[in-house]
Amino acid sequence: MEKSALLGWMQRQYELSAGLMTKAISATHLVKERRPFGRIVRPAPGSVLACPVIAAYDPDPDYFFHWARDSAVVMDALRVLIERGAIGPESIRRFEDYVAFGLKLLDLDGAAYLRELGDFRSEVEPFFRQYVRDDEDLRAIVGDRVQGEPRFNPDGTLDILKWSRPQHDGPASRALTLMRVLPLVEARAPHMKGSLARLLDADLSFTLRHWREPSYDIWEEEPGFHYYTRLVQHAALAEGATWHEACGDFERARAESEAAQELRVALAAYWSEPEGVLRSRLSSDAGTGKDLDIAVVLAVIHARRRDGPHSILDPKVLATLARLEDLFASLYAINRGCGSDRAPAMGRYAGDRYYSGGAYYFSTLGAAELYYRLATAVAADADAVTADHEPFLTRLLPTALEGEHERLREALVARGDAFMATVATYAPATGELAEQFDQATGAPSSAKDLAWSHAAFITAFGSRREAVEARGT
Ligand code: NOJ
Ligand code: NOJ
Repeated sequence: MEKSALLGWMQRQYELSAGLMTKAISATHLVKERRPFGRIVRPAPGSVLACPVIAAYDPDPDYFFHWARDSAVVMDALRVLIERGAIGPESIRRFEDYVAFGLKLLDLDGAAYLRELGDFRSEVEPFFRQYVRDDEDLRAIVGDRVQGEPRFNPDGTLDILKWSRPQHDGPASRALTLMRVLPLVEARAPHMKGSLARLLDADLSFTLRHWREPSYDIWEEEPGFHYYTRLVQHAALAEGATWHEACGDFERARAESEAAQELRVALAAYWSEPEGVLRSRLSSDAGTGKDLDIAVVLAVIHARRRDGPHSILDPKVLATLARLEDLFASLYAINRGCGSDRAPAMGRYAGDRYYSGGAYYFSTLGAAELYYRLATAVAADADAVTADHEPFLTRLLPTALEGEHERLREALVARGDAFMATVATYAPATGELAEQFDQATGAPSSAKDLAWSHAAFITAFGSRREAVEARGT
């Protein structure tokens, strides 16, 4: 694809993604009838739908839920839109609703909900009863257990369906999003500082109390200790410590910084010297095939550590990305013939069987974002590049280590663009981005118009602008 055509497509997709993503936030005009379960769901203000397109495994999945993880990523992308002037500053109001919705969820109580539901099981069609949580499971969801819920009904009630629980990345991810929006709130909407601080404090204190416990991974498939969850917990606690210190709560700040330090030590164990990758999980049964998983790349771009281990400058992170690129290049038919102009469409891990088993928009865009951020980092600090980066950087530019930082920055932006070009090849003209695009045909698959896919485009494109603006600094 010609560079000018690609730039034109990116600008158009940015506008379309901004519109389509915001449709998932406070979608109070939508109604979802979860018919076989006898439930009707009307989204409340501040809820964020993983996907606003109504479906019920017919065949697309029912994503009409407020997922903790997805909504944190989406609201962070909303912040990027506001900061970059793509939408007006009045959109900060959406954070007010998001925070109010989040605070309300904290008070959920499974036992009270069961009483309110009454004899709801009789309204569930017999075949579907197997998918409903039992009373005991629901009754236990109160206090801290609420924060371990991976998703909620967007009307602010507990999810009555069986699912992979608990998942502990959500509160940490939301804490990161809230801390990033704080400067905007202080400048533009100081009246909402108090409620934001309350929610942030709750997310940090949950993370502080529970980071030692196992939970399900972000793919909702396996309980354990997962790199993604631990890295966002580490980042949230490290930044939370700074925030609490600024608030004058030195005791909390100390506890958070100690936990962050312990997590940093724990994260070092994810590096596998023989495999040469950061593993996505610590499983007793090594080599589950999921060691090499895009979740590691997503963790790094979501956690946004500035430097050091687990940042975009960490040679171990870059080695992992290189291995993932090679994996998907060889795995997916649509990647045949991809080269320097068109980078491989990326998925989750080898052997994924969910819907088309990849490729994923957020995976491919996540790779683009990592390259763009690396370009910015290289432009900002010439000394950031060391001999440890050589194996990765010389894949792009044989002379990468010879001090030509401007050429290196350009090569990194070009590699990010090559991932964007892949997305441009498969994204429809309407701008709708499904969860996946088929690894053999490129056709959209799984949830249609996934808010997270748009968020991934928006943050990748925002990072590209930063990388371009960093020229010559
Ligand atoms: C398996 C999928 O891989 C996962 O990502 C999904 O969230 C769960 N099933 C629930 O559908
Ligand atoms: C499946 C993904 O595996 C999970 O990470 C995500 O939260 C849900 N879909 C909703 O988008």
